[in-house]
Amino acid sequence: MVDFQGILNSIHDDLKAEEVKGIVASYIPELSKKDVNTLGLFMQHVDGRSFSAGDAFTPFSIQSISKVLALSKAIAYEDNKIWERVDVEPSGNPFNHLSLLELENGIPRNPLINSGALVIADILVSHLENPKEDFLNYVRDITNDQTIKYNFKVADSEESTGFNNFAAAYLLKSFNNLNNKVEDVLDFYFHQCSLEMSCAQLSKAFYLFANGGKCMKGKKHITKKQAKRINAIMLTCGFYDEAGEFAFEVGLPGKSGVGGGIVALLPNNFIISTWAPGLNPRGNSLIGMQALEQFTSQTNLSIF
Ligand code: DON
Repeated sequence: MVDFQGILNSIHDDLKAEEVKGIVASYIPELSKKDVNTLGLFMQHVDGRSFSAGDAFTPFSIQSISKVLALSKAIAYEDNKIWERVDVEPSGNPFNHLSLLELENGIPRNPLINSGALVIADILVSHLENPKEDFLNYVRDITNDQTIKYNFKVADSEESTGFNNFAAAYLLKSFNNLNNKVEDVLDFYFHQCSLEMSCAQLSKAFYLFANGGKCMKGKKHITKKQAKRINAIMLTCGFYDEAGEFAFEVGLPGKSGVGGGIVALLPNNFIISTWAPGLNPRGNSLIGMQALEQFTSQTNLSIF
């Protein structure tokens, strides 16, 4: 039997002592206030066991990790219709890159880069009666946790500085790939990204992707095939221009956020989340990636 607790403890202690920790994101001013020395790890096994080390229960800004949760809700509504508006290819470019979007006539490369996530946000704004409230309720439902909240300061902070996302949304609109008003889609998207969740909550929320579409309560939210597709998109696109590196080092589908979180999973086996706010030059958590590399190497558990 693998000693998951022992492995998490030793990874935590090893990486706490690491000197190079990366740089905390500052382009969303509210995020720059976090301590680079924070490290949390939480592993949820599909059999119900869970293990943690460090700051695993402190909520933080999940940012782009929310794109996977939004995608799952949009897929539940529209299934394959989504792929008429957004592709499933890795972009090989940073998360906020715009030039491919123009070259490819307003069809984003995938739903995890910002432009693709804005198309997904547009789909949700079209379907949900009260988009922000209904999406929050969905996340609370799949996590089985009513305490999850938006951070309105973070959403406002991004709303006042998110010029690149405004540009992406207007470009999408100019190609007729945004049905709702730019302001409404961005308002929803900035709130979606401002969700605060701990490593423990994230691992529980992502349980459904490791469990063929059923959350921890046994409720079916998406089909097995849809879960398989979301995992494939996480593997190929979850780390933007570093997706190859993450597959190479860690070997799991996963998703990062500029708040310093990462969630990764092995279908039918476990979900693991890390939080370390220092980012590498590609906007992914430096220590989080190292922690996950150590975890899959030491447990011998990856998709490869
Ligand atoms: O749209 C943005 O720029 C942020 N709300 C999210 C970016 C993000 O988390 C990129 N991931 N590493």
